Amino acid sequence: MRALSSLSLAVLVMVSLTASSQTMAASRVAQTPPMGWNSWNYFAGRVDDKGIRAAADQIVATGMKDAGYIYVNIDDTWEGERDASGVLHTNAKFPDMKALADYVHSKGLKIGIYSSPGPKTCAGYEGSLGHEEQDAKMYAEWGIDYLKYDLCSFIPEVMQKQASGDPAAQMQLMQAAYAKMDKALKATGRPIVYSLCQYGWDAVWEWAPSVGGNLWRTTGDIEPRWDRIYAIVSQQAGLEKYAASGHWNDPDMLEVGNGRLKLEENRTHFSLWAMLAAPLLAGNDLPNMKPEIKAILTNRDVIAIDQDPLGKQGTRTYSDGEVEVWTRHLTGGALAIAVINVGDNRYSTHPFHLSLRRLGLSGKQTGKDLWTGKTVELTDNEPLELASHDVLLVRIAVPK
Ligand code: GLA
Repeated sequence: MRALSSLSLAVLVMVSLTASSQTMAASRVAQTPPMGWNSWNYFAGRVDDKGIRAAADQIVATGMKDAGYIYVNIDDTWEGERDASGVLHTNAKFPDMKALADYVHSKGLKIGIYSSPGPKTCAGYEGSLGHEEQDAKMYAEWGIDYLKYDLCSFIPEVMQKQASGDPAAQMQLMQAAYAKMDKALKATGRPIVYSLCQYGWDAVWEWAPSVGGNLWRTTGDIEPRWDRIYAIVSQQAGLEKYAASGHWNDPDMLEVGNGRLKLEENRTHFSLWAMLAAPLLAGNDLPNMKPEIKAILTNRDVIAIDQDPLGKQGTRTYSDGEVEVWTRHLTGGALAIAVINVGDNRYSTHPFHLSLRRLGLSGKQTGKDLWTGKTVELTDNEPLELASHDVLLVRIAVPK
């Protein structure tokens, strides 16, 4: 009897230790902004099992994995129908999600999935409304490591139906829906990154961490056009105080290598996402990635800015006309400076005089130009000339 009770005590201790280590593991995800790839920006509804495997293969083959890209995220359009017991099945594009997750894991990568708190996803596929626990359990059984939860149909089908004309009540319904899925994910005991996608409404940055969000979209959808990217960037200034380890502002997935973005626009886009401590989720066609795009996405110095352990998001320190100067404080007292010509031609910076004083620096500064790899010296009122939409990104190890 005594032997039995000490045995059951030992089992109890083991169970509670496992449970608490699982909670701790869940709270340890996204200590730095998540890095990986997501299917939506390039493939949208054309994503399938084969494409996800190819993306995983390429992340390894291109060196992106070694550079820190770990999550391979399936966005919308994987969902099939629910059966009589409410179990959601995949559609024909994804014959066996568990096998796919195993494949991605076998490469040393992690896998992400997508759903909506509403009855339907943004692309009109099956959402999780009323099946949150069931779905979360299934994700955990498949081995899912990341969930993007996209509001969409929850707006008309729940918020507007249940609280018509009452924005405060609508917001509460939305927050409750995000909290519900967070609880369901935590109950699985599996560490799953929780990504909120509700387009930056209702000051999401103020409450997302309280509903378990590790990252939250701050705007509507990105597009592979400079104007859209720059509009998103402009909407990030001021949000820096909400970012911290485990909780990140998400200005949306990367468009590097997509559309007709010029090389310098790709470079500036990537530099700014690093300055913003943004999640770095590439969204391009990896099997057909051009070498110059790979060089941007795998620039270790720029990635180090994004992943800086201090976790302090950068800010727009000042702008003069069509030139913006962003700074980010880094671990060990280092400083990243990004000077961007947001104008449509080079005459915006012909030349531009960089004021070190306005950055709180005095005297000559020595740093590394992170796109040329060369050492640069900056003096106060340094004349700089940049091509349209290009960036000068400098890391100063010991600012004076
Ligand atoms: C919304 C999101 C996008 C993408 C699509 C999928 O528009 O903001 O990032 O997930 O839905 O339908």
